[in-house]
Order: sequence, then C-alpha cells, then structure tokens
Amino acid sequence: MLDRPATINPERVAWLVERERADYAERHPFSQQAFAAAGANLLGGVPMTWMRMWPGGFPLYMASAGGARVTDIDGHEYIDFCLGDTGAMAGHSPAVVQAAVAMRYAELGGATTMLPTQDAAWVAAELARRFGPTHWSFTLTATDANRWAIRLARQLTGRPKILVFSYCYHGSVDEAFIVAGPDGPRSRAGNVGPPVDPRETTRVVEFNDLAGLERELAAADVAVVLMEPALTNIGIVLPEPGYLDGVRELTRRSGSLLINDETHTFSAGPGGCTRAWNLDPDIVTIGKSIAGGIPAGAYGLSAALADRILNDETADLVDVGGVGGTLAGNALSVAAMRATLEQVLTEAAFAGMITRADRYTAGVQEVIETRALPWNIVQLGARAEYRFCPRPPRTGGESEAAADPQLDEYLHLYAVNRGVLLTPFHNMALMAPATTDADVDAHTRIFAAAADDLLA
Ligand SMILES: Cc1ncc(COP(=O)(O)O)c(C=O)c1O
Repeated sequence: MLDRPATINPERVAWLVERERADYAERHPFSQQAFAAAGANLLGGVPMTWMRMWPGGFPLYMASAGGARVTDIDGHEYIDFCLGDTGAMAGHSPAVVQAAVAMRYAELGGATTMLPTQDAAWVAAELARRFGPTHWSFTLTATDANRWAIRLARQLTGRPKILVFSYCYHGSVDEAFIVAGPDGPRSRAGNVGPPVDPRETTRVVEFNDLAGLERELAAADVAVVLMEPALTNIGIVLPEPGYLDGVRELTRRSGSLLINDETHTFSAGPGGCTRAWNLDPDIVTIGKSIAGGIPAGAYGLSAALADRILNDETADLVDVGGVGGTLAGNALSVAAMRATLEQVLTEAAFAGMITRADRYTAGVQEVIETRALPWNIVQLGARAEYRFCPRPPRTGGESEAAADPQLDEYLHLYAVNRGVLLTPFHNMALMAPATTDADVDAHTRIFAAAADDLLA
C-alpha cells in the first residue's frame, strides 16, 4: 500500500464521464434509436422503469445472450458480470434449462393449469437439503416470497410489526422502505405512494448493531426480522464475527421469527449464507436465479411453523387470504427450477464461480493498492463489489455515505465501452458457471486502465 491515498479530482471525473458518454452514444446508434422510439408508449421509454439505471442516458438493447455473454443490437458482445442483477446467476439460457422449458412448454404442454407437477416436490426437497427449512411454497418473485412470508409471520406470532436493517432491499415490500437516521427512523427517500408511514409497520436498525436490535425488539411487537445475512443492496456489508449468532439469540429471546432472504446471498454457496455459515433461521426466502432466468421464487418454513400455520383455522391459505398468486408454482417455473438446481447451480459450479470471484477480487484489490485508491472491495462467494471508501463499511448507513454516482457512471461506461457489463446498481459483479479466468482478467485490465485514466 502506498503511504498517501490518491486524490480523485471531481472535475476530471466529470470530463471523463462526458468523454465516455460521447463514445457510448457513438458506439450504440441502434440502441439509442430504439430507446427514443419506445418513449411513445413505454412508461419512461423502458419495459420496467429501473432499466433507466443503466449509464449513458439510454440502455443497451439486447439482441441475444448465452452463458456469461450478452450481445446488443449494435453488434457488440459483452462479458456479463451483471447477470440480470442475479436473475441470471446460472448464466443466460443454460442448455439444460432450455431443454426442460421446451419439454414442459412445447412437448408435454401446460405451463399454467393450477395442477401440481412432480417436479415441485423434488425442488422443495432440494431447497430443504440446501437451506434447512423443511416445508416450501412457490412464488414468481423474491418480492412475493418476502411479502407472503411476512404475512405468515404476522399470523403466526399475532404481532403487528417487522424489523429490517437500514438501507436493506428485499424487493418492493412496502414495510421495508425505511431507514435509520440521527433523528430516528424515516421513510426512505423516493418511497413511492407508501400505503402508510412505514414507521407504523416497521422498526429499523443498522446492520452489525446488536445493542440497537435488542432495544428495538424489547417492545415485543416484532413478528419477524427480515434480513439478508450480509447486506448486498448497498454495496456488500458483511456481518462481524458473532453478529448473526447474536441476532438469532435476540430474536429467539424476544419471540420474533427470523427470515433469511437468500435471493442475493445465494452467491455464498449452494445453500447460501444459511448453509455456508451454519445459520438457523425460521424462514428462508429466495428468488431470481433459482429457475435459470425463468420467473420463480420460494419460501421455506420449519416443520413446526408449517404445522402451526396449516392448523390455524383463522388463516385462509387456499382462497383469498392474501397469500398466493395464480401463476405461482406453475409447471414451467418448477421445471426450470428443477433443471437449474439439479444440473446448473450445483456444488461443483459454485466451487468454480467462487474461485473466479476470488480472482476478480484479488485483481481489483491489486489495482486499488498499486494506485493507492481510497477504495475497497468485498467478496461474498461468487459476488464481489468495490466501494468508494478505504475500509469495508460496517453498516448500511456507512455504505450509503460512500456512494458516488459520478464515479459509478464513469466506471460503468468505461467498462461498457470496452465490452464489460457491471450491474447498474452500484458496482456489483457476479460470476456465472460459464465465467472464465480470461473474462475476469479482461475486467481487471479495464478497471486498471480506468483507474489510470482517472488519476492521469
Ligand atoms: C435481497 C433481495 N430480496 C428480494 C429482491 C426482490 O427480487 P424481485 O425484484 O425479483 O422480486 C431483491 C431484488 O434485488 C433482493 O436483492
């Protein structure tokens, strides 16, 4: 490490962003045209408004994708470390999932019949083997897995509130848009049309703060603590030694249930952080990657909780009680989940993905050190992320304070213009089974060049 950290000049960053934006526009005329034309009828010009997060003023339009590669309609190929913000952690369109989907949809037929198929019990048994909870139910998104798990937790405990961690993200779950601040909790900036002030439904504490958690649980009104075992949506914030044991002990002592949302932390290994770190939550939720990119989510309960909820005569789980979706557990999603878990996101695949992420982290770390950049990188299994502060943040609040949208845009555009995609939200990179050492080294070279340009 060099003695003094390098200084980054914001005016140079602004100039570099302009340079990269101009280059981006020049390289992608068809994407730019498609975006301009789409504005007439697509809200915000995109199929989903968060696609506006991509840097450069307009998103790339995808032509095709396979493994860890995406090709845009201007004919450029990219090494993809975004992987659909985890939805494509299994890689794009893995051959065995293609075959399972074709078999279900075309050969056998019947994506949505409201009837079970035999794949579902296989998937549930596999999720139980990997994550611990024994009784599973399916959704189409991780958001819904969290929503329905929260409802079940309220029903089971008879308590009104939930508790989340400041700057968490669990999908568009109304209760979770709350942050902690010096003047107490507040609705997260930009919260769109909240049904009620989230302070009425939710308690919030900083990650890694056991004293705060103990204080908030003391009122005994929290049905469930909803957490990622490591925060991944405000950079990566890892738990300090003993912290997760403390969370488990405090939740048990106060009679609150505990949900591990493994949607992103699944990157830690075949059974997510829950298995990698030997955790014992009451409920696990997951989504995004488990069906190889086909919409699917799941939540699993311990046998004791499953028994209680099924025998609760006041809980309508089969009709209009508020837990369920017509297409949830559909035969197509379930077939895709089976193929993905059985043949793609296997123990062996995770071993390779994590080795690639070790290489990615070491490469970025070396660039940071040799240029004395005041940045750090944190790894969680197959996922890694750099952040613009010298040491890894301990809390969501600390990590939020290290955000720098201008630097983000520069580094993202620099990478895109040279054939590498990062997740548009902060600087997250994820390895798929198809990611190679050469892909990782290409990123390291581009990141080094971007850093050198920044400091020139
Ligand atoms: C931890 C976590 N849980 C849940 C979700 C929601 O996933 P989806 O948008 O697919 O419902 C996300 C999305 O980023 C997430 O990061």
